[in-house]
Amino acid sequence: MSSDEAAALSDARNAHKTSVSEEVVIRFDDVTKTYNLYKNDRGRFLGIFNYKKKGIFLGSVDASSHLSFEIKKGEAVAFLGRNGAGKSTALKMITGVTHPTSGKIEVNGRVSALLELSAGFDKQLTGRENLYLRGQILGMKKSQIQAIEDEVVDFAELGLYIDQPMRTYSSGMKARLGFAFAVAIDPEILVVDEALSVGDRSFKEKCIARIREIMMDENVTVLFVTHSSTTAQEFCSRGIVLDSGVKMFDGTIEDATAYYEKNY
Ligand SMILES: Nc1ncnc2c1ncn2[C@@H]1O[C@H](COP(=O)(O)OP(=O)(O)OP(=O)(O)O)[C@@H](O)[C@H]1O
Ligand SMILES: [Mg+2]
Repeated sequence: MSSDEAAALSDARNAHKTSVSEEVVIRFDDVTKTYNLYKNDRGRFLGIFNYKKKGIFLGSVDASSHLSFEIKKGEAVAFLGRNGAGKSTALKMITGVTHPTSGKIEVNGRVSALLELSAGFDKQLTGRENLYLRGQILGMKKSQIQAIEDEVVDFAELGLYIDQPMRTYSSGMKARLGFAFAVAIDPEILVVDEALSVGDRSFKEKCIARIREIMMDENVTVLFVTHSSTTAQEFCSRGIVLDSGVKMFDGTIEDATAYYEKNY
């Protein structure tokens, strides 16, 4: 390499460095999540009191095992791994749906999750009422919810059903409302767990377009689960490969997808 080339390369590296924030928004420090398995619900209930009788307590699974990593502001990270590798578990701990058995997780920023989109609604309330309920749970003021109401309703395209009780919705309709809400609140950290598998084709395209738009904002940090290397490469710059809850690989998305395809 000539000295000119070396200088150009070093310039490029430095330019890149300044555009990637040094601010850590997510930190996993030796995180383990253990699920105990019981023969039946009675056993699961007794398990709360540390009752581990043979024949009722069947064993345990580490869905996350000694996971440590840091994610910086503005990074887009794909989580790769086979079914049951622990991807959703890791993301659920970030969104607070579940908690680590041991270790520490730090999250700095407003998290919006595109996972289990149709979960967490009150069936008896209308879509619109649920939108307010969800906003309140997130600590939003009424005026803040009002400000996004039209956007959510438009995006979800539920027509008259927006004012019908959600027990009358199909699962795709619930997912639409969940997605519309999640992307309307200007997330600082966006968690996407196979959300793209819901909805019909035209809604899916709209979702992808919206996710892409959010990801263009370099201040937004994105965590993305997918089984497709192409999708991972399109959306992410870094990849983490999990296997039985263990981090097997962490590096650039090209290296991570290559590792995943070679080994799995
Ligand atoms: N609530 C639970 N109770 C018991 N075991 C669980 C529970 N949730 C997850 N697991 C187990 O934890 C492991 C990791 O599951 P997880 O859902 O994180 O995998 P995943 O990588 O998201 O898989 P997939 O690609 O199928 O979505 C699996 O062995 C799963 O069976
Ligand atoms: Mg999963």
